Amino acid sequence: MRLLSSLGAVPRLADGDVLIRRPCDEDADTLLAGTHDPLVREFMQAVFPHPDRESAARWIADVPPRLWARDQAAHFAVVLDGGPAVGWAELVDLRPDQGTAEVSVWLLPEARSLRVAAAALRLVCRFGFEQLELRRIDAYAAADNMPVQVVGAFIGFRRVGHRPGAFRGSRNYALHDAVYATLFPEELC
Ligand SMILES: CC(C)(COP(=O)(O)OP(=O)(O)OC[C@H]1O[C@@H](n2cnc3c(N)ncnc32)[C@H](O)[C@@H]1OP(=O)(O)O)[C@@H](O)C(=O)NCCC(=O)NCCS
Repeated sequence: MRLLSSLGAVPRLADGDVLIRRPCDEDADTLLAGTHDPLVREFMQAVFPHPDRESAARWIADVPPRLWARDQAAHFAVVLDGGPAVGWAELVDLRPDQGTAEVSVWLLPEARSLRVAAAALRLVCRFGFEQLELRRIDAYAAADNMPVQVVGAFIGFRRVGHRPGAFRGSRNYALHDAVYATLFPEELC
């Protein structure tokens, strides 16, 4: 596996009119809105609702570059039609020794139901396989989060496990059952 910190500039990562790029200050409003979105808070763990744009901007300036430099996580803003960011895609828990990572994605409500999620998920997985030479990408979802399971299956993820009560959302910290899916390079479609 290649280390994130060893990569030079990330090449353009686009699929039709969907593009992912490293986050920057102009994505702060999107991050602010995303961390307050009810569905994001229900179905994603450890989402901190930023109190204002400055907090989101500070987080963008600090956390993604730091985790990238430490080879721990690759964060991307999701852009549609060259407009402002409409969501976020990330590879986290990068394990260079095992060649694995975990993927997740969220979109603002206005970008949902447009097939943007599948394109963004495919792009971030392609980055993981082609740029980092990962051997496997994992995805965990709340069992009652059907959209992300449908999107994952659409690009090749295979469900391999079910873990009762393993997932705690960020809205009211309720426990959900979790499903676990994996993707190998040759399965990405
Ligand atoms: C996950 C997410 C990015 C998917 O975005 P999306 O592209 O808008 O996905 P959709 O809502 O269109 O759903 C995708 C598919 O699931 C299907 N679907 C939606 N709800 C469903 C349900 N309850 N049962 C079965 N299928 C369902 C849709 O019909 C669609 O399939 P299609 O494209 O063949 O019509 C978006 O829902 C989101 O941001 N959620 C909050 C954050 C989140 O849960 N992230 C994942 C954490 S693991």
